[in-house]
Amino acid sequence: MSEKSTIRVCHVDDLPPGERRIVQIGNRSIGVFNVGGNYYALLNRCPHEGAELCRGKITGTTRPGAVGEYCWEREGEIIRCPWHGWEFDITTGRSLFNPNRVRVRTYEVEVVDPSSADSDQADSDVETFSVSIDSGMVTRVL
Ligand code: FES
Repeated sequence: MSEKSTIRVCHVDDLPPGERRIVQIGNRSIGVFNVGGNYYALLNRCPHEGAELCRGKITGTTRPGAVGEYCWEREGEIIRCPWHGWEFDITTGRSLFNPNRVRVRTYEVEVVDPSSADSDQADSDVETFSVSIDSGMVTRVL
């Protein structure tokens, strides 16, 4: 059984591709990202030593090619922790170096029409999106 709460973050126009917003939900800090028009949310706490991961550099990553060749890819899909540089896939929360064992918790994000939102959230005529927190989606980290 899961407990779900929703928080309004901002108008979609206020979060263009490549940008992030950091919101506080209770005692949780959560980063909401626009990656190429799709929205993702990560817990703003690095599983390494607890840095504010979502304040890190949004970047891409280098994949090896032939000997001596490196291919830059996934620009805008990777967040690099500001403390020690661990890198995570914004779209999945998985680390690049050990994606099946080291990851950051993710949250569901949805774009909502304010006319269909709860009355306490539909206080304007703007389109909004919200972060839904599902306590059943606990992600295990090392
Ligand atoms: S606290 Fe994030 S890499 Fe160390």
